[in-house]
Amino acid sequence: MQAVSRRLGHQSLKLSPAISSLKSIYPLSDHYYGADHPRFGSTLAPKGVGHLVRKGTGGRSSVSGVIATVFGATGFLGRYVVQQLAKMGSQVLVPFRGSEDSHRHLKLMGDLGQIVPMQYNPRDEDSIKAVMAKANVVVNLVGREYETRNYSFEEVNHHMAEQLAMIAKEHGGIMRFIQVSCLGASPSSPSRMLRAKAAAEEAILRELPEATIMKPAAIIGTEDRILNRWAHFARKYSFLPLIGNGSTKIQPVYVVDVAAAIVAALKDDGTSMGKVFELGGPEVFTVHELAELMYETIREWPRYVKVPLPIAKAVAMPREIFLKKVPFPLPTPDMFNFDEINALTVDTVVSDNALTFSDLGIVPHKLKGYPIEYLISYRKGGPQFGSTISERVSPESWP
Ligand SMILES: NC(=O)c1ccc[n+]([C@@H]2O[C@H](COP(=O)([O-])OP(=O)(O)OC[C@H]3O[C@@H](n4cnc5c(N)ncnc54)[C@H](OP(=O)(O)O)[C@@H]3O)[C@@H](O)[C@H]2O)c1
Repeated sequence: MQAVSRRLGHQSLKLSPAISSLKSIYPLSDHYYGADHPRFGSTLAPKGVGHLVRKGTGGRSSVSGVIATVFGATGFLGRYVVQQLAKMGSQVLVPFRGSEDSHRHLKLMGDLGQIVPMQYNPRDEDSIKAVMAKANVVVNLVGREYETRNYSFEEVNHHMAEQLAMIAKEHGGIMRFIQVSCLGASPSSPSRMLRAKAAAEEAILRELPEATIMKPAAIIGTEDRILNRWAHFARKYSFLPLIGNGSTKIQPVYVVDVAAAIVAALKDDGTSMGKVFELGGPEVFTVHELAELMYETIREWPRYVKVPLPIAKAVAMPREIFLKKVPFPLPTPDMFNFDEINALTVDTVVSDNALTFSDLGIVPHKLKGYPIEYLISYRKGGPQFGSTISERVSPESWP
């Protein structure tokens, strides 16, 4: 734990006034977190109990017995995971580090009092312990596909996950730990982020062999950062850069299916414990084919500029070089993210013998149709504007 603290740059922290006052109220207790603490005592999840207390018919107002701390709940996948957990009557603790607005949309997803936002500092071990104290399930969705001045790939994608696993182990009452990694995460990946994710998987299984690892492919959905980004760029600049020649194979997956897989793993009888699942959609696309699907949905004539890999890397390189050297934050990388370009040099599809959706009893959705319907907001002139792809004519043949 100390080693991780050192890597995370922990300093000896002064106790907050609230914790100091707790110490004066409970002078004999050494631990100021954990299910045994008087303040956090829970009849639903007594420490070390191996089953959940369930009540009701399984809907929103039932009691699923799951009290889940969902790290990363404020992100894209987070909103679907929280929604599906809350829908079955779970209590969801939502650690957030940013503004009060970051979790506002989650509050309505569960019954009154079921969604509990708790401010925390990911670099403060005590605050992590506090948000985990009452939980019996931990889901870690924290991750980032670009580095910032404050956070390296390794810290966000590896060390934080490792620290959560260590704290969950120390807690003693965490029955299920689910880590969301990435398809393609491997120590030999050309992407630093994916290498960090692989290191996290290894560290978590070392600490908690019963943890479940989910490795989703590129995730598609209303708030995704793939098709939305492409559609926005295509509308703004009337072309789409195709890095490499767009022949890299990917297996994009619908966000609702990924959330369903996480919840299915939590609901099973423990068969998914200690297992790694690769979550890819039902179809393999090349990047070019996926871009065609995007163009078809936004009803624009597809125009591409093929950007060879070395040039794409050269465009992305200045941010890499200057990120830690200039005394101000640099813009978030958009189309040209150096690490993502590296990741695109290899195909990322579900491996042959992997456990996948079918092992969790889920049939993943095809992307075409409802899952990407949100793209119609990019049609110029409104959702009904333009011809369908079957009627498509080249702009050159326009009168
Ligand atoms: N999106 C995809 O296509 C995709 C594909 C495969 C795997 N995944 C994995 O799935 C997980 C969820 O993805 P997502 O798309 O939902 O990501 P996201 O929208 O970027 O959300 C990431 C979450 O992690 C938190 N986070 C990021 N950096 C942090 C830091 N330094 N300290 C504390 N919290 C931090 C964010 O908190 P703030 O809101 O405070 O920033 C947010 O809640 C990630 O682990 C990601 O690697 C995603």
